[in-house]
Amino acid sequence: MCGIIGILSRQGSAANRAMEALRRLEYRGYDSAGIATLSNGKLDRRRAAGKLANLQAVLDDTPISGSTGIGHTRWATHGAANTQNAHPHVSGPVALVHNGIIENFRRLRQDLESQGHVFETETDTETIAHLISSHLKSGKDPVKAVQSSLMELEGAFALGILFEGHQDLLIGARKGSPLVIGIGDDEMFLGSDALAVAPFTNRVIYLEEGDWCVLHHDGYDIFDAAGNKVERPVSLVQAAGATVEKGNYRHFMQKEIFEQPDSTARTIGAYVDALDQSITLPGDENAIDWASVTHLHMVACGTAYYATCVAEYWFEQIAGLPVKTDIASEFRYRQPALPNQGGLALFVSQSGETADTLAALRYCKEAGLKTAAVVNVPTSTIAREVDLVLPTLAGPEIGVASTKAFTAQLCALAAAAIAAGKARGHLDREKEKTLVKALSGIPRLIATSFAQDEPIARLARELSKARDVIYLGRGVHYPIALEGALKLKEISYIHAEGYASGELKHGPIALIDEETPVVFVAPHDALFDKSLSNLQEVAARRGNVLLISDKSGLEEAGDTPAYRIEMPECDPFVAPILYSLPVQMLAYHIAVEKGTDVDQPRNLAKSVTVE
Ligand code: AGP
Repeated sequence: MCGIIGILSRQGSAANRAMEALRRLEYRGYDSAGIATLSNGKLDRRRAAGKLANLQAVLDDTPISGSTGIGHTRWATHGAANTQNAHPHVSGPVALVHNGIIENFRRLRQDLESQGHVFETETDTETIAHLISSHLKSGKDPVKAVQSSLMELEGAFALGILFEGHQDLLIGARKGSPLVIGIGDDEMFLGSDALAVAPFTNRVIYLEEGDWCVLHHDGYDIFDAAGNKVERPVSLVQAAGATVEKGNYRHFMQKEIFEQPDSTARTIGAYVDALDQSITLPGDENAIDWASVTHLHMVACGTAYYATCVAEYWFEQIAGLPVKTDIASEFRYRQPALPNQGGLALFVSQSGETADTLAALRYCKEAGLKTAAVVNVPTSTIAREVDLVLPTLAGPEIGVASTKAFTAQLCALAAAAIAAGKARGHLDREKEKTLVKALSGIPRLIATSFAQDEPIARLARELSKARDVIYLGRGVHYPIALEGALKLKEISYIHAEGYASGELKHGPIALIDEETPVVFVAPHDALFDKSLSNLQEVAARRGNVLLISDKSGLEEAGDTPAYRIEMPECDPFVAPILYSLPVQMLAYHIAVEKGTDVDQPRNLAKSVTVE
């Protein structure tokens, strides 16, 4: 998951414009960055390890000229995150940037080394540069050299390629990683997404799988994998020029936590008819016949996967629909036995570009299932390949740790479960109105929960000293325990595990001691008594209990918990959406206490577009 930008222009500073684009792409990876430009036909390059600011410092110190260039911000796959391995990579007259993984690069590298090519880096990407330059040496022109090279590559790539001596040429290619063309006035662009080229144009072409393109100042040609010239639609991307700022918040994650009353309200608004308290799914109502769905397979990664785990309870309880949830990277290699009739595959993805989730989608389409996706980016690859999009309207989520996208996903999934229940005759009108009313009340409840932010910040000072933290939840709150643990570990680097409360006594209780905080996510619902018993088992072993519950739950737990977070009372149906907030706030404040990089935690990236 790297970010790439290409600028083919006769005006302006390619370096400055590329930096503006890379700042919009940094969420895709920030291990290193680099820019190469063409100035009077000559290639020049600057690179730096670490954050984009380091590359800016290099450019300030040793500027490069040229109005045409390529840029890259890296999440390391092959080779350490250092300057030497930073893109762009160069071989002879070829400079290129790459997002993806070349799976056969070792064999190609051996062949090229036997031809005398000398490699400088450990990366798979450098192999592509040498491969293209070897085809140039054999007498091919740049376009033919690229076309021949693409046919030899196995794996995933989005490429931007420049050629010394060819001031009016920029070549791009996409296979397994997203790439868009930006159309300017007498200038052209390439980008990993529309946001990257937004400062320069709102006219965008989304290249399709296997496409490659040859750009000139005044136009472009697009070819499919077989080399046939093809036409692709030009989209006008709305308001893409708007940059996302932190405002008065300290971090994007903090801003996005506090945006959740609005982001859930916008998302709910796209599904709920407030007048008659009913659910209408957006998009083509004939895309999915919910009454004929007999099996639901939900597939996702990370936090999005935990959203499917919550939705599993909803689809089974509200719609009476058999559900299987899967982690995408496991699903796609397990050869899952999929029903040839009545199967619906539902994918959840904030970015809509996660490689494993996309591969799982394609597997299900091959198997003939109807497909739907809950996505936050309506122009994303996953959104463009499913039969039905169930949008989340969370807005751009910049913090690598997902917060507002998660609660928006839960709102969309809750609405879909109600729609499925209605279509399957499993939900009567009165029950539908009750559930819709509860869902519509979520934004206000989330806003009310912010009263706990300061108490949680105080609590975080104590809990930030922990070496390990255990999160426990029962029923629909078990996935919230998993999500709470993920939030904590990915931004504070404290080891944390989520467990089903009932599982504690089957082994994990051996971990309990006075050094290990145990967080119970447990509103006073039908399972609360069971959770309270587990809580007392922990306390009896001197475990440090933090109980997140409502007033009734806290009263019943008495003085047993060492720490408490009080949540507003709510309908059990929407409790998992509401109880996402305290685990987000807890992780955030602990990370702030630890001084980690909350918005761009080490080793992570926002969009995992590689396997
Ligand atoms: C969320 O906090 C994580 N950063 C990560 O698990 C993320 O949810 C996962 O990579 C899936 O991303 P997607 O929703 O864009 O597919």
